[in-house]
Amino acid sequence: MREVDAIVAEALAVFAGIDDADRLEQAKARYLGKSGALTGLLKGLGKLPAVERPAFGSRINAAKEQLETALREQRSRIQERKLEASLKEETLDVTLPGRGLGGGGLHPVTRTMDRIEALFRSMGFEVADGPEIETDYYNFTALNSPENHPARSMQDTFYLADGKHLLRTHTSPIQIRYLESHRPPVRIIAPGRVFRVDAVDATHSPMFHQIEGLWVDEHVTFAGLKGVLIEFLGKFFERDDLRVRFRPSFFPFTEPSAEIDMSFGEGWLEMGGAGMVHPNVLANVNINSEKYQGFAFGLGPDRLAMLRYGVNDLRLFFENDLRFLKQFN
Ligand code: DAH
Repeated sequence: MREVDAIVAEALAVFAGIDDADRLEQAKARYLGKSGALTGLLKGLGKLPAVERPAFGSRINAAKEQLETALREQRSRIQERKLEASLKEETLDVTLPGRGLGGGGLHPVTRTMDRIEALFRSMGFEVADGPEIETDYYNFTALNSPENHPARSMQDTFYLADGKHLLRTHTSPIQIRYLESHRPPVRIIAPGRVFRVDAVDATHSPMFHQIEGLWVDEHVTFAGLKGVLIEFLGKFFERDDLRVRFRPSFFPFTEPSAEIDMSFGEGWLEMGGAGMVHPNVLANVNINSEKYQGFAFGLGPDRLAMLRYGVNDLRLFFENDLRFLKQFN
């Protein structure tokens, strides 16, 4: 028993004198570790007469607990002292200006969309919006797409599992939605994401952007459509050598319809589709096509951004590699 008391007294003194966490753990090992002093005594238990064993065993256990408690207290004392020291050392000047997180920047397609919106606003267009998840009615039927039109096929359209909804394949459904709640005169553009099951290559992505345009009023003409688009493209590219061409085409929701091509000298680039709003479309939203006419167009802003910034692969816009995106800010 005397020996236990001596060990405990020694250990307590040693622990109290240590002000370093690592050294405290090393000291602990010397008394409580596998080959520590207390553990050594415990191993000798078997050599004692049987009657003395219980008392001796419980004495050692009590000593262990005493040392554990002392260790715990000393640990937190060391930690407190360390904290106090560092608080004294590191003074914090809350009046210093911050380091700043860097500005961030807009995606090149977002910048392009903003620019397009600003140019159309300057021509009196308002900006409208619509949902990316659509019904068959808005995406096709109301736009005069016949039941068997190939655009409705599974190969081109992402259908939702409920069989009722789809990811809009173009921004044209916004024409219908807007005309359901607004009467002419209507002059809007509607930018947004559209989705198509498409082979992914340098010019195709399953998600891309469109900007829909719609002008419905009395006396709206194809000449007006040409004027607006030529004016827009000229302002967008700021080039005098820009040529624009309207190539006869087909869309179910316009008649006549045209493909808009553009050229800076060599070769023609397709920029979108356009045409005079089909009387069936106007009838679907209860607008009298004897009195009102409209023109509509759909532009590809990704394509416009590629041309403006000299980017030759559409996929770069949607991979979100910061090394690419940082070049635009
Ligand atoms: N919605 C057509 C498409 O995705 C583009 C388009 C063509 C929109 C002619 C129009 C239009 O408004 O008049 O391919």
